[in-house]
Amino acid sequence: MEWTPGARELADLELLLSGAFHPLTGFLGHDDLHAVHERGTLADGTPWPAPATLRLPDEAAPGDEVTLLDPEGVPLAVLTVTERGHDGLAAGPVRPLGAPEHGPFARLHRTPAQVREELGGRAALAVTMRGPLDDLTEITATAKELDAVVLLLPLSYGEPGPAVVRAALRAKERLPADTLVVPVPLAPREEPEIDLELREHVATAYGAAEHLAGPEPVSIPGPPHRRGLVVFFTGLSGSGKSTIARGLRDALLELGTRTVTHLDGDVVRALLSKGLTFSKADRDLNIRRIGFVAAEAARHGGLAICAPIAPYAATRDEVREMVESVGADFLLVHVATPLEECERRDRKGLYAKARAGLIPEFTGVSDPYEEPDDADLVIDTTHLSIEAAVTRVLGALRSGGWVR
Ligand code: ADX
Repeated sequence: MEWTPGARELADLELLLSGAFHPLTGFLGHDDLHAVHERGTLADGTPWPAPATLRLPDEAAPGDEVTLLDPEGVPLAVLTVTERGHDGLAAGPVRPLGAPEHGPFARLHRTPAQVREELGGRAALAVTMRGPLDDLTEITATAKELDAVVLLLPLSYGEPGPAVVRAALRAKERLPADTLVVPVPLAPREEPEIDLELREHVATAYGAAEHLAGPEPVSIPGPPHRRGLVVFFTGLSGSGKSTIARGLRDALLELGTRTVTHLDGDVVRALLSKGLTFSKADRDLNIRRIGFVAAEAARHGGLAICAPIAPYAATRDEVREMVESVGADFLLVHVATPLEECERRDRKGLYAKARAGLIPEFTGVSDPYEEPDDADLVIDTTHLSIEAAVTRVLGALRSGGWVR
C-alpha cells in the first residue's frame, strides 16, 4: 500500500534516510519507545533521546511493505512494517527510493556521510540553529581553540525553515571561509532538554566533535492587525451564522483595512464541495476543504470568514490546527441559536422536510451537532438582531487587535 505521512513524520523520515538519526534505521516500536521514555536509550541500551514514530492506517499489518509518499505523491521510501502498536503507530526499517530532493535550499542538503567526507578528517564545530546568530564571537573563538571547521546546521523544519537557512548563509559571510551550511529538517521536540539532546545526536552524526546550540528564535509574531485570521462560525442550519458572516464581511469591506475571503457554507457546497453528501465523511471533507482554503488566505495575512455547520468537534480542531500551523490566528464563533428557534424560523423549509423524512441525516433532527466547548465567542440570535450580532463579532476583532 501507499501512504502519505504528516509533515513531522516526513521530516523524521528524511533524517532516518540520510543517516542523521544514526543509529536509527527506522521508526521505533513499543520496546524502544518505552526505553526512550524511561531511560533515554533504545531497548538494547544504546543512548537515544527522542521518539521517532509513524502513524499508519489500520490496514497495514506486520510484514507489509508500505510506500511512503510526499504530499505531492512522490514515492520517498519503503517501510517494512515489523510491528503495529496501539494508537495506530507502526514500526519498522525504512529504505530510500532515491527521490530527487526538492524544496527551498534543497541544493544545500547533504547527508552526514557526505559532510564527513567533505571534512576529510578535520574536526568540526557544529552549530544547530533555529533563529539568527547575532553574536559570532563564541563560535569563532571555540572553532579557533579546537582548530575546527564551523558547520552551521540550520534546523529548517516548517514555516520558519527557509528564514533560518537564510540566517545561516548570512552568518557564514562573517565566519571563516571554509564554514559549511547544511540544512537539517529537524522538527522541534516539546521538551527543551530532549530537543537539545537530539540536536547533539544529529551534530555527532554529521561528524561534529563539539556542538553549540544557537539561540532560540525570539518569535516576535507580527502585530495582530497584520496577522492572518480565520473567523470560523459554527452552528445549526438557520442559526443565523451565514447572515452574521455576511454582515461581518460587509462591515470589514467598509472599514477597508483587511482583505477578506468569504467561505459561506452554501456557496462552498455549490462549487468547492459540489457533489459531496451530508454523510459524516463528506461533511468532514467539506470542512477540511474550507479549512485548507481559509488557511491559505490567512497564511498571506488575509482574513477568512467561514460559515459552515461544521457539526464535529474533532474536525473543527483540525481546522484550528491547520490555521495555527501557518502562523495565523483562529477565532471560533458558536452561533448557538437553539434548535427550537432555528426550526421555528425554518427560513428554507428544510426542517419541515427533515421532520417529514424527506431529507435524511439532517443536522439537529436526524444527525448530530457537537456543541463547541472551546468557542471564543457564543452568540444566540433568538433575541439579538443581526446588526447587534455583527457588532459583537467586530468588537471581539477590535479587542483582539485584529481590526483597528
Ligand atoms: S456541513 O455539515 O458540511 O458543515 P454545510 O454548512 O456545508 O454543512 O451545509 C449546510 C447547508 O446545507 C444547510 O444550511 C442546509 O441549507 C443544507 N442542507 C442540506 N441537507 C442537509 C443536511 N442533511 N443537514 C444539514 N444541512 C443540510
